[in-house]
Amino acid sequence: MEPLSFPSEGKQASPTLKTLETCKKIISSMSLPEENGWNDFQPLCFYKGFWWHPYFIERSLFAQENFKVQPRDIFICSSPKTGTTWLKALTFATLTRTHFKNSPSPLLSKVSHDCMPFMEIDCIENPFIPANDFPLCATHVPFSSLPKSVIDSGCKIIYICRDPKDSFVSLWHHTNKLRPKNNEKICLEEAFELYCNGKSPYGPYWEHVLGYWKASLENPDKLLFLKYEDMMRDTAFYLKKLGEFIGHPFSLEEEKEAAVEEVMRLCSFKHLSNLEVNKTEKSVFFRKGEVGDWISLLTLEMGERLDNIMEEKLSGSGLTFKS
Ligand code: A3P
Repeated sequence: MEPLSFPSEGKQASPTLKTLETCKKIISSMSLPEENGWNDFQPLCFYKGFWWHPYFIERSLFAQENFKVQPRDIFICSSPKTGTTWLKALTFATLTRTHFKNSPSPLLSKVSHDCMPFMEIDCIENPFIPANDFPLCATHVPFSSLPKSVIDSGCKIIYICRDPKDSFVSLWHHTNKLRPKNNEKICLEEAFELYCNGKSPYGPYWEHVLGYWKASLENPDKLLFLKYEDMMRDTAFYLKKLGEFIGHPFSLEEEKEAAVEEVMRLCSFKHLSNLEVNKTEKSVFFRKGEVGDWISLLTLEMGERLDNIMEEKLSGSGLTFKS
């Protein structure tokens, strides 16, 4: 691949189309294995141990080549449907709580996804993201596909995962919601079979989780590993932990003034999902926000099957999704 030249830090870069084109060519020349089950319009492709939409493979390759971070940057990483929207809101609100003390938080008028760049997409326009006021950036790529600059720099990573039974159900609903209105719903049993075989966006799910889990064990100061269920159970505890991790701890004074509770309230499912911006037809990020909702869709046998798969795949790692 041709080497790229970069403008000085902080300036907007405009890489040539040819560069992304080069990434596209590399990927399309690879004849990657495909899986059509999740979406009739775009198959998932198997690349570097994971199932991706080709659009994101090209862009993650571009990011690996071009992305530059600074030590102050904070990355929010996740598999889809594991609580990303919530974690983004909590991190943004924690980081900006002083800045927006006397003015409305952007979270009141924007989806949390629009409060920070998404690496695989926004990197094309600007490889120096996050170059905004608040050094946050998000990605779904597996740990092994993060750009070298993210791994090697002093930047922080926060990862969220979720019981795969709930994550699968959330993904199934989400995928159906995005399908054109007159299309039939994706067959639940078929999707479940694919998921159990590791074939889901950014799957196998357990590999995605394990990559970040192992990295968090090796370097806990760099990577904060969170579970949706834990955060739902004791949001205040994990929020304080998050604040400390990103270098913005809640002071005793703030705790007395209920600043932790204020961030929790601002980012709660009830509050965010009732905002005009999040109530539109287009909003696909809020559904129920509950732990254990899988039982409304899956049989006990299906739940047990997924539990057993996770137990086997995670065995010896020290990580478990058993409650
Ligand atoms: P459900 O479909 O189970 O309701 P992601 O943000 O990674 O796409 O994950 C979406 C899931 O997180 C959805 O789960 C959604 O309802 C839930 N969610 C979104 N915002 C939330 C919030 N503020 N608090 C708790 N859960 C939230």
